[in-house]
Amino acid sequence: MDSPITGLHHITSGVSGAQEDIDFLTATVGLRMIKQTVLFDGSNPIYHLYYANRNAEVGSVMTTFPFRKVGYVGRKGSGQVKTTGFSVPRGAVAFWSERFTRLGAPHGHAGERFGQRVLHFSHPAGLEFEMIEQADDRRDPWTTQDIPADAGVRGFHSVAMSVRDTEEQERFLTEGLGFKKVGSDGAYTRFAINGGGAGRTIDLLHQPDVKQGSWVFCQGVVHHVALAVPTEKEQLAVKAHLEGLGYTDCSEIKDRNYFHSVYVRSPGGILVELATCDIGFAVDEAADHLGEKLLLPPWFEDRRAEIVAPLEPITVPHHAH
Ligand SMILES: [Fe+2]
Repeated sequence: MDSPITGLHHITSGVSGAQEDIDFLTATVGLRMIKQTVLFDGSNPIYHLYYANRNAEVGSVMTTFPFRKVGYVGRKGSGQVKTTGFSVPRGAVAFWSERFTRLGAPHGHAGERFGQRVLHFSHPAGLEFEMIEQADDRRDPWTTQDIPADAGVRGFHSVAMSVRDTEEQERFLTEGLGFKKVGSDGAYTRFAINGGGAGRTIDLLHQPDVKQGSWVFCQGVVHHVALAVPTEKEQLAVKAHLEGLGYTDCSEIKDRNYFHSVYVRSPGGILVELATCDIGFAVDEAADHLGEKLLLPPWFEDRRAEIVAPLEPITVPHHAH
């Protein structure tokens, strides 16, 4: 199959408190908040918060569900995205290491993988993140008073999926989705699509002895990773191709207001989504005022009071420029 997948679209994770998440991802990591809305599935009203780079580009969109009120803390393990990698310019890992030390944010020592500098750090809810230096990433970062453009996050670099057995997951990525295997480094194998590089990379991390982690909505683990397709036409073509290979656990198309989605459980356990790029985040608010107030999809507006009442009050720091 000539794959129409262009790269990563968004990554969705369960976090703990909403304000804690906003403070960490905007003030500490320097992402731009681009959307406040609510979880579209299920019965408990839960925020769905979106963060991205300056231009709210596909491939930079981190979304979170603050599940503190639900209470369930996920179990980390295999069959999950283990680390979410953000792309930063060459030389920026030193900035982030110093910054995390100064702010008391848990982080590791700078290391190297696939010839790139990598810094591991943690979200307050326990999510594992990495800053990965990528020299040729021209995407525009959001900047803050203390995060300059030459250090800011460009968008995603990659995700690392932990799997107990790589063979079927590799087949899913290559034959199923059109990724190409481009190298290995220790327990990591790298797969690239659409030329590879930042936002177009998935790593498999082979962890044969790590027990399977949680799949449900919960705090502290990645729920799914979404890959970008231009429109529903390509989305349905990839779905048909996957089903033809035997990956029959593909959902119907779901309307997520800012894109349309199809979900498929990959053989390694990780939930993968195909998301379209033809709607975008400016569909219900001005592009230069994204994320400043709570928006509901049109079909929930008549229930606004009921949905908003139990939600944690939040404020978005006016840190940005
Ligand atoms: Fe999603």
